[in-house]
Amino acid sequence: MTSVNTLQFTTAELTGATRCLVVDDEPHLRRVLVRVMQGDGFICEEAGSGVQALEALARQPATLVLTDLHMPELDGIGLLREVRQRYPGTAVVMITAVADVSTAVSCLGAGAMDYLTKPFHIEEVRARVRQALEKRRLVLENRDYQERLEERVAIQSRRLEQLFLASIQSLADALEVKDTYTHGHSLRVSHYSAVIARTLQLDSEDVRQIELGGHVHDIGKIGVRESVLNKPGPLSDDEYEHIMTHPMVGWRILSPLLGDTPKALNVVRSHHERFDGRGVPDGLSGDAIPLEARIAAVADTFDAMTSARPYRPGVPIPATIAELQRCSGAQFDPVVVRAFLEAIESGAIDTGALNDVSSSSGPPPRGVR
Ligand SMILES: [Fe+2]
Repeated sequence: MTSVNTLQFTTAELTGATRCLVVDDEPHLRRVLVRVMQGDGFICEEAGSGVQALEALARQPATLVLTDLHMPELDGIGLLREVRQRYPGTAVVMITAVADVSTAVSCLGAGAMDYLTKPFHIEEVRARVRQALEKRRLVLENRDYQERLEERVAIQSRRLEQLFLASIQSLADALEVKDTYTHGHSLRVSHYSAVIARTLQLDSEDVRQIELGGHVHDIGKIGVRESVLNKPGPLSDDEYEHIMTHPMVGWRILSPLLGDTPKALNVVRSHHERFDGRGVPDGLSGDAIPLEARIAAVADTFDAMTSARPYRPGVPIPATIAELQRCSGAQFDPVVVRAFLEAIESGAIDTGALNDVSSSSGPPPRGVR
């Protein structure tokens, strides 16, 4: 069998360790050990007691401490405890007489990496040192892993969320290809909804879910006929009924994906509910409509009205606001309408870049498309 030594690597090279502190009150034994360790590539320092050892470590930390058990001032066990506490990355190997083996074993319980019994053979010293340093490496790796685990989990969670959002985005992109009006609408509804949610002082997780829900609220339009989606004019009753299936279609598409974000899913299903109970798909009223959906309903209507359509220009901001106020308490939750108006007044929603108020007129279209 090829031994480590025939490959001419020293223990220090193999383990990446360089500094070793030899602690013994017998100078002769100390020097023997120092010579062995130096022969294995370590830079060695000597100490005649536990106290001197701590002084030496304070000057220059070591990878490895070889220490006798019985010494004046601070003995080997006392030194072991101090080293464990002050230098947890330092490996300690105890050197004991055969009679002290039971004590040495108890030192293992106190954090020593290994022990040597006197008299010792050089090869035994090398084997124990290698073993102790290997243990040290594993302990340090484990500690490092534990410390980084939380960070890694956080990074992976962020990555998973990015991948998830990318798949949602591809659905939203697919809808935009089919329904050109949707272009930008979902993002604006998402933005307005998030601003209203913040104005209502919802917590950041709720805001995040509402933002996501706004982004995908009309996904169900993927299931609506293009002839209806892009019809350049008011809809017939049948067409209107067909287009208003989109909240349920979207909810069915996204339910398997948005299980962890139920509020986003509520936005998709319930953004066409009305406060007075005359909405779709469930005819919910008042507080029975999830707040996130009541928020999205106002954001959705505001953007639908202010955006230009093939058959009409965008409704001016003042007229849109007047319409929201007129429908407050009937179509919309008055609390949400108030929060929305507050967000406009405070500038949190910037209306400056929206439609040119002088270029359009006329009543809002039937329904929100
Ligand atoms: Fe919708």
